[in-house]
Amino acid sequence: MVEFTLPKNSTLKKSFPVLSKGDKFQRVEVYRWSEESGENPKIDTFDIPKDECGSMVLDVLLKIKDNFDSSLTFRRSCREGVCGSCAMNVNGKNTLACTKSLADYEGETLKIYPLPHMAVVKDLVVDMTHFYEQYASIKPWLENSTNPERERLQSESERAALNEIYDCVLCACCSTSCPSYWWNSDRYLGPAVLLQAYRFIVDSRDENTEERLNALDESFKLYRCHTIMNCVDTCPKGLNPAKAIAEIKKQLVQRA
Ligand code: SF4
Ligand code: SF4
Ligand code: FES
Repeated sequence: MVEFTLPKNSTLKKSFPVLSKGDKFQRVEVYRWSEESGENPKIDTFDIPKDECGSMVLDVLLKIKDNFDSSLTFRRSCREGVCGSCAMNVNGKNTLACTKSLADYEGETLKIYPLPHMAVVKDLVVDMTHFYEQYASIKPWLENSTNPERERLQSESERAALNEIYDCVLCACCSTSCPSYWWNSDRYLGPAVLLQAYRFIVDSRDENTEERLNALDESFKLYRCHTIMNCVDTCPKGLNPAKAIAEIKKQLVQRA
C-alpha cells in the first residue's frame, strides 16, 4: 500500500551479515537510522530461527533486540493491542506489531519500516509530537458544566453510539496511511483525531457538541478527507474512521 521513499541525497544501504535461510528461518529486513551515526538510513537483514521466536511480528523484533542487535529501537508496551505504541509499517501496510501474526507472511520476507511520512527519531520510532498536539486540540475529554448528584447515566442506545469508536488506541496507523494527511498534516487533523473528535460529539454526556462542530467546520481540519479509505483498510482494530468523518460532515450539513 505504501511506498517508502527517502530524500534524494539519502540512499538505503543493506548491511548485517545474513546467517542462513530456509523453512526454519524467518528473514527480516528492518529500517535503521540513527542521527548520532551521521550515516544514511540502511536496511539490516536478519534470519531468525522460527522455533526460538514467538508468533507475532513484535516477537521477531524482540528476538533481534535480545540476541542480535540490542541497539534496535522501537516502541512497545502492552503487547496486547491496547496501548497503540508498536505501530509500524510491515510489508507495505501500517499495523500493530504485537497483534500481527507471522503466519500472515508465510514464505515472505518481513519488511519493517517506521510509520510513513513521519519524522524518524531512531529506527522504528517516529516523532508523534504533532499528532498528539492535534489530538489535544479537539479537547478529548467530556465537557459538562452541570453537577449531577450521582454519576452521569446513559441509555443503552446512547452508550451504543460509542461502540467501536471507543476501541481506538490512537496508534496513528490510519492517519499515517492517509494521502491527505501526508500532504496536509500541518492543518488537516487526519482520521485518527477526527474519529476521536466524533467520539465526543456523539457522547450524550458531553454538553459542548455545538462548540466541537464549530471548531471542525473549517476547510482544512475536516474537509481534506477525500474518502480514499486507506484508513479503514489499515486500522488494526477494525475501525472505520472514514465513516466517523462522514458523520461529522453530515451533522454539519443538518445543522446548517
Ligand atoms: S482508528 Fe484505528 S488505526 Fe486509527 S488510531 Fe484508532 S486504532 Fe489506530
Ligand atoms: S477516507 Fe479520508 S481520512 Fe481515510 S484515508 Fe481517505 S482521505 Fe484519509
Ligand atoms: S505493544 Fe501495545 S499495542 Fe502493541
